[in-house]
Amino acid sequence: MAQKTDWYRDAVVYQIYPLSFMDSNNDGFGDIPGVISKLDYLKELGVTAIWFSPLYPSPWKDYGYDVADYRAIHPAFGTMADFDRLMEECKKRGIRVIMDMVLNHTSDQHPWFKAALADPKSKYRDYYIIRPGRRRGGKLLPPTNWTSCFTGPAWERIGETDEFYLHLFAPEQPDLNWENPEVRKEIQDILRFWLDKGVAGFRFDVFNLYSKAQPIRSDRNPFRLQKGTNFFVDGPRMHEFLQELNTGVFSHYDAYTVGESYTPDPEHAHRYIQRDAGELDSIFDFEHLTSDSVAGLKFLPKPFSLRAFKRGLLDPQRNYFHTGWNTLVLENHDCPRSVSRFGIHTRRYRYEAATMLATAAFLGWGTPFIYQGEELGLTNSRFRSMDEMQDPVSRFVFDTMTKDYHIPKALAFPMIRYGARDHARTPMQWDDSANGGFNAGAQPWQSVNPAYKKINAKRDLAAEKSVYRFYQSLLRLRRETPAILRGSVTEYDERSRKLLLYAREYEGKRFLIVCNFTAKKTPCTLPAGFEKAAVRLSNYAAPAISRELTLRPYEALVLEAR
Ligand code: GLC
Repeated sequence: MAQKTDWYRDAVVYQIYPLSFMDSNNDGFGDIPGVISKLDYLKELGVTAIWFSPLYPSPWKDYGYDVADYRAIHPAFGTMADFDRLMEECKKRGIRVIMDMVLNHTSDQHPWFKAALADPKSKYRDYYIIRPGRRRGGKLLPPTNWTSCFTGPAWERIGETDEFYLHLFAPEQPDLNWENPEVRKEIQDILRFWLDKGVAGFRFDVFNLYSKAQPIRSDRNPFRLQKGTNFFVDGPRMHEFLQELNTGVFSHYDAYTVGESYTPDPEHAHRYIQRDAGELDSIFDFEHLTSDSVAGLKFLPKPFSLRAFKRGLLDPQRNYFHTGWNTLVLENHDCPRSVSRFGIHTRRYRYEAATMLATAAFLGWGTPFIYQGEELGLTNSRFRSMDEMQDPVSRFVFDTMTKDYHIPKALAFPMIRYGARDHARTPMQWDDSANGGFNAGAQPWQSVNPAYKKINAKRDLAAEKSVYRFYQSLLRLRRETPAILRGSVTEYDERSRKLLLYAREYEGKRFLIVCNFTAKKTPCTLPAGFEKAAVRLSNYAAPAISRELTLRPYEALVLEAR
């Protein structure tokens, strides 16, 4: 057993989407040497760990979330020697490395899947979920009516045979059969391979889909939009599978684990991270990020609800308290840019809103996860047509909307653009040179956001007042303040549709986080005890504090009671 240090509780994690971070050899794709050249930038920001979106060989049907080899590096990113050098360079700077583990499915190019298809008697057949189709009046139907998380049927027919394999995502992402103990053993070996190399932990992609209720059967609920979720979300053996990984692997290393959950049931969510349950250290729960869409469907926008956002953001911090650990997230490679949503007046108040959102999210209870470019307040791109978006999901959903639901293209396109993952995947904006300094001018795999001329790292670093500088101050305050690292969370003005207020308290020290989520001046009454508070952080010139304040557009304040 390794000594557990809980290092992650004081960590600040930065997510790198390697394809779009920094392209050192000008081939249009980001790479590991590119990352190494930017480590000082991250260190300066206050980052202490990096989570890398998949670096493994992959046909990139889902840009790395379709893994063809779990023990190697994609040649476009570099070599294993480059990765080892990356680990060393990170270590020199006190930065830990967290790997993305995509274990619900593999790529259809993974040798296991190829072997499974090549020979029906191969043992690899049982590494996947393969079932005979149903015959209905001479027609061959998929084994069940389940729908893929990317829309459309979740089954793909195997050639001209009567059999189908399950894919909860793209057809090129066949689901692994976790019921098979050999699969679970392979997975443990893969995890050990990376831990023995010195990585500090894992982010588990859609982990709560690993277990599927057996026998596999159709979903008879006529009202469920995505058929089958009752059988494959938080499935019957989920807790057992995680405990097995924990006993077999995690408990032997000082490793941190964070699971990306797919619409988890709160009770299960709670159990996954309970300390004595021996499962995971934390999960991502994206409830607050659904506060501007209908039924959590990101391509169906609705007016932003601050109350839903506050509930989603603060409930885990209140409810999981003392029993586990939490994560703080506003963006990742699957979301539009935060400063371009939540009803924000982005053009006029980009700086104020970006810094206010950071204050709202990253001074809470849990480990902050900052997505590349968020520290610069990067905005959504200005895609003019579907052709400018590379993400297969944008295409799948657009096709479903226009072909299956007959939504006119002119209506469907803005909906896709609103929720598109592509916004997060445009190349990082380093400076105002061609392609925003992402490379030396070759066409990047995904178009650059034209905003790079005005919004870029070089400009932020040169300015005294910038989103990057604010993040630095915020992360410093976090690091130096035990009440923010460890304190309890108490919300005020819960019912307000304009303000977010919460206090952090620890060993007699009290801090108050105050955020105006509107573009208007908004009155605010401070809770008792803060009338004479000191301003510790502010995104405007610090105001004079009294019980009654008028907050400026998107103003954010951190007060310390005295
Ligand atoms: C996760 C990833 C996403 C990917 C999906 C399937 O949600 O974050 O990018 O498409 O899983 O692997």
